[in-house]
Amino acid sequence: MAYAAFRSIGAYVPSKILSNEDLATMVDTSDEWITKRTGIKERHIAADDEFTSDMGVKAAELAIQRSGLDKSEIDMVVCATISPDYFCMPSTATIISTKLGLGNVTAFDISAACTGFVYILSIAKAFIESGMKKNVLIVGAEKLSSITDYTDRGTCILFGDGAGAAMICATDNKDEAIIDVHTGADGTFADLLMTPNGGSGSAHDSLDQEANSCFMQMKGNETFKVAVRTLTKDVIEILQENNIESSAIKHFVPHQANYRIIKAVGDALKLKDEQVVLTVAKYGNTSGASIPMAINDIYEQGKLKSGELMLLDAFGGGLTWGSALVPFSPSK
Ligand code: ACO
Repeated sequence: MAYAAFRSIGAYVPSKILSNEDLATMVDTSDEWITKRTGIKERHIAADDEFTSDMGVKAAELAIQRSGLDKSEIDMVVCATISPDYFCMPSTATIISTKLGLGNVTAFDISAACTGFVYILSIAKAFIESGMKKNVLIVGAEKLSSITDYTDRGTCILFGDGAGAAMICATDNKDEAIIDVHTGADGTFADLLMTPNGGSGSAHDSLDQEANSCFMQMKGNETFKVAVRTLTKDVIEILQENNIESSAIKHFVPHQANYRIIKAVGDALKLKDEQVVLTVAKYGNTSGASIPMAINDIYEQGKLKSGELMLLDAFGGGLTWGSALVPFSPSK
């Protein structure tokens, strides 16, 4: 049987910074409020002519180079995004694949909001374990600034842009394998976090530009409570089902939505501060890109070593959630 190994990581962050102080000149908020309620100090914003696919390509180039693979060996690209280059089609994954020069490979996007990276990890694992694919490039890329309403202080303080990518590759060595991935969803909470306009469910006869915009809307406080409850349950379950103690986790890499959510889940698992990877202060919430960007941070700081176990967890619009137990298994 083939197993799926997490071989390499890469990320890209646009250069422009939007600080809490900048936001305080745009909406009625303050650095103190944002820092206290979210832990975010600043986020990065893509240039006008920089698309989600452009950021995905930069992250992917790094992940491919670090995997040691030749591009011709990649047989599938999956992109997690809620801010694609184009609404509906073509998929951002096909654009990334072509910009990378990968030729005629399978490529598609998935929509699971902030849980997107955990979802594409599970897809890569399943395709590899079934024997259908060998080397899968997974990309979480977001230009959330393109779907953020900068007059809504409840959401615009949270989101930023960026991309992360990983190579997931077939191996016959079980010790290198991704141990488990959990994914879940519950549409009864759909209205907590959504882009209500612009799809088949919205009023197409409206000439009102705002009604046709794709801006995100969120019931933040309710989302917060469901996030803490669901994530805590899910990470406890994935550890129990795999007979792994939380002390065996070297790096807990949560979706970077809000420091208070991360702290609540970390405390429930009795994790020490040094086990918890935090990038929320400098990148904000980059949805499907946040987990690979965080993994890339510890990789580039020399903190992520071969064989070390990561616990990933995420929560987002849908509502969706997921977790994964992933040893870092770079090519020898
Ligand atoms: N600045 C100042 N005051 C604000 C701001 C702001 N930016 N935003 C809201 N407030 C006010 C509210 O109006 C409210 O005022 P009131 O008491 O007079 O009515 C007060 O602050 C409290 O508002 P809450 O919404 O209860 O604040 P909360 O502590 O819940 O923090 C936040 C809001 C940061 C959005 C939090 O709820 C959160 O992080 N939620 C979860 C987000 C999340 O994880 N989403 C899922 C992933 S995102 C995705 O999938 C794309």
